[in-house]
Order: sequence, then C-alpha cells, then structure tokens
Amino acid sequence: MVKTILVTGSEGQLGKSLRILATKKEQIRWVFCSREELDITKAESIENAFKKYHPTHCINCAAFTNVRLAEAEPKLAEAINTHGVGKLISVCNQFKATLVHLSTDYVFDGQKTTPYTEEDLVNPLNAYGKTKAAGENLVLTQGRKAYVVRTSWLYAKEHGQNFYRSILDKARAGEVLEVVNDQTGTPTSTTALANYLYRLIQQGPPYGIYHFAESKIQTWYSFAKDILAAHKLMTELRPISSPKEKLIRPSYSPLVSIKPLENDL
Ligand SMILES: NC(=O)c1ccc[n+]([C@@H]2O[C@H](COP(=O)([O-])OP(=O)(O)OC[C@H]3O[C@@H](n4cnc5c(N)ncnc54)[C@H](OP(=O)(O)O)[C@@H]3O)[C@@H](O)[C@H]2O)c1
Repeated sequence: MVKTILVTGSEGQLGKSLRILATKKEQIRWVFCSREELDITKAESIENAFKKYHPTHCINCAAFTNVRLAEAEPKLAEAINTHGVGKLISVCNQFKATLVHLSTDYVFDGQKTTPYTEEDLVNPLNAYGKTKAAGENLVLTQGRKAYVVRTSWLYAKEHGQNFYRSILDKARAGEVLEVVNDQTGTPTSTTALANYLYRLIQQGPPYGIYHFAESKIQTWYSFAKDILAAHKLMTELRPISSPKEKLIRPSYSPLVSIKPLENDL
C-alpha cells in the first residue's frame, strides 16, 4: 500500500526540511499542512484534513516552541503541546493512522552527567518542558500506533530563525559574539532528523520512545565556534555564563539512542 504521510506544522523549520526530503522520496504521497489548514487545537480542523487526505502516517511538527514565551503563557503552550496533541491522537486512532510525535531534550532536568537515553525518566524544569512531557505521556498512553521522537537543539542551515543562522548573521554584521558556555547539548540538523523520521517510518514498529540527535556534544559556545570555523569567519567570540533569570533550562541535556534502527545496523 502506498504510504501517505501528513506533516502538521509544515511551515516550521523541521516541516520545511521534510518538504525538501519529500522531493527525493516520491514513492510516498506527502501532504504538508500549515497551521491555517490544520490547527491541532481544533478537533474539527484535524478531522477535516484526515477526511480529505486519509493519511497512513502523521508526523507532528506542530508545537509551541518558544521556551521563553511558554513561561509567560503556560496555558497557551499547554493548549498546543498537550491538549492539541491529545486531539491529534484521537483522530489518528479513529483513522488508524500511525503518529510520529516530536518531543524534546527539555523533558529532562539536566542532572545526569552522561547523555540521556530512551530509558531515562523525565523531570521537566520549565513550562515548555512540562507541556511537552505531558504531550508525550498522552501519546504513549493513548496512541494505538505511535512513536515519540525526542530531539534536541534543532537548527536548519537553509531556513528559519535558529542559532546556526543567527550566529552567521551576527558574525557577518561584524558583531562581537558572547555565547553561553554552561549549557551542554547535542545540536541536531533538521535535515538529518527528517531523514531519520523517514527511516523510522520505513522500519515500522516497535512503537514507543526514540531519541535522535547528532553525536557531537557541545555547549552553545563550542557550537558557535564550529559554525564560525566552517565559514572561515574570524569574528571575536567570548564565552559567558547563562544570565540569572526565572526561566530554568537543563544545563546538561545531550541525547543518545540505545534503540538503533534496523537500517543503522
Ligand atoms: N527547535 C528546537 O530546538 C527543538 C528542539 C527539540 C525538540 N523540538 C521539537 O521539534 C518539533 C519541531 O520543531 P521546530 O523547530 O520545527 O518548530 P517551529 O519551527 O517552531 O515550528 C512549529 C510549527 O508549528 C506551528 N504551530 C503552532 N501551533 C500550531 C497549531 N495549533 N496547529 C498547527 N500548527 C501549529 C507553527 O506555526 P506558527 O509559526 O504559525 O505558530 C510552526 O510552523 C517540535 O515538536 C519541537 O518541540 C524542537
């Protein structure tokens, strides 16, 4: 049977990378839904899209991803990252579609000293992490055919507003860069993640939690250094500490997978 993959939140940075991947994977029918066409906070909007396209799979890239704003507007973040995900699961179950839901390293508290695996317990520190952890929990307890794919520190080189592009913009504008050096994670390109999601869908079950991140463990400062070196930019770069503020982020949240895909082996 030909697979139909419906991508929600298609105008975000991961959605756009999946759109690029889709041009190379034409044996699949791809449907890209922006927030205007499919709003995950509205059951009717989800049902209408599913009635129209009959997806076999849904990759949920729709999310409230502004970590700072989530702290100020936790109800708004919850409406999308938790209750919206709940609505999407119901419709996926109703249409017997497989859900691939994206989640984050921010579900962890950063207390470990080795990378987080699929077996580690969540303990989110901030509103964004809490709403994402609650969304994951709904997927895992209510989804009939469902994956949670946790990823971290996403960047797209070609599009969107992200750390990678903002470092390049500032360097090219001649700014001296001050970048935090006390948060550690695994920066991950949306191109690599899009490929992984495709391979996961091709592999099929077991359902459950999967981690996907690139393997290099970095601070934001060391990542900025790599970006500048890759572009041969000699910009002055200074390491700084995270500002003291109400918003708490995990200081250490690299992800690693102990569940390789069959086609990794
Ligand atoms: N960015 C990261 O560093 C990072 C790290 C770890 C995990 N993740 C996870 O990876 C996934 C993809 O992230 P991303 O960086 O691609 O996010 P993104 O660029 O912020 O894109 C999210 C998209 O979702 C849309 N959206 C928001 N509310 C919606 C709703 N109610 N219904 C439908 N669409 C809605 C947004 O549209 P509007 O722009 O119109 O709001 C946006 O196009 C998310 O689940 C995120 O939590 C991201």
